[in-house]
Amino acid sequence: MDTRFELINRCSTYEELLHDLESILSNEDLFFGHGTGNAMDESMAIIMFLSESADTLQEGELKTATHEDLLEKAKEILYQRIVESKPLPYITHEAYFCGKKFYVDERVLIPRSPIAELINNRFEPWLNSNSLKRILEIGTGSGCIALSIAEALSHIEVVATDVSSDAIDVALRNTKALGLGNRVEIIESDLFENVNGVFDLIITNPPYVPSKIMSDLPNEYLHEPSLALAAGDNGLDFIYRILHDAPPFLSDNGIVIIEAGVASENMEKEFNMPFVWIDFEKGGEGVALIEASHLKKTD
Ligand SMILES: C[S@@+](CC[C@H](N)C(=O)[O-])C[C@H]1O[C@@H](n2cnc3c(N)ncnc32)[C@H](O)[C@@H]1O
Repeated sequence: MDTRFELINRCSTYEELLHDLESILSNEDLFFGHGTGNAMDESMAIIMFLSESADTLQEGELKTATHEDLLEKAKEILYQRIVESKPLPYITHEAYFCGKKFYVDERVLIPRSPIAELINNRFEPWLNSNSLKRILEIGTGSGCIALSIAEALSHIEVVATDVSSDAIDVALRNTKALGLGNRVEIIESDLFENVNGVFDLIITNPPYVPSKIMSDLPNEYLHEPSLALAAGDNGLDFIYRILHDAPPFLSDNGIVIIEAGVASENMEKEFNMPFVWIDFEKGGEGVALIEASHLKKTD
């Protein structure tokens, strides 16, 4: 084990461990952004995992005594996080999205889409969720978006697709863990290929990273499937196909919500469409909404 981490042997409480973890993580050249935004958040996430807590520990709980096994586990986590540049959720196999815990591993993208805020707000004020009956998610990965929608809107039928059979395995595992097998259908499909019927909302966080950015990504991203990120020269390979192929799968008043992230400017320039860019209060950008009628006009 790396001697840099021996320092934490002296931590007799969670509070001391939190402090030492933060000091070690903040002195390393790490990228944060896979579920946590900085060394402090990430240290708390490690303590939550070690203490099997679903919430941030409060002052009283931080006085809890540590023990040898726990400190050994913390050192193993630090090793993988720092020496192997592995994002924390791939070490702990847990990621939180819309307040729910999802199983994740290197077969799926780590959940972090700002779409979580939209789901938490039941899509208001952008959509009237009472008018939604069927929703399709394209590129579900861990299933975090589709399953959170099903949890938030109990009257809705959700279909979710992914082209990766590995991702489908993870999404099915999460569907079962959340007991949503009767409400969410998970289908292996190249975009719309195996999809039937029409939907009131098609929602997607597709791969959108342009080639140039792919080649400069921090090491942490190399643990994520490139199938979940890479989207050609301008990041629009999948966005183009989704916007082009969506119309027959949309009801008359249907809506597409599409995350374009770093490819947002390219999307705006490339498609002459009245995208409505969604504002987020809790951070995040690059998610647009477009009505079916505008997509149909471009055919
Ligand atoms: C950016 S990830 C989003 C994962 C998840 N929805 C989330 O927000 O965390 C994109 C997903 O699209 C999937 N994907 C890539 N190409 C696809 C295709 N042709 N058809 C369906 N899904 C595809 C990837 O396997 C990956 O799971």
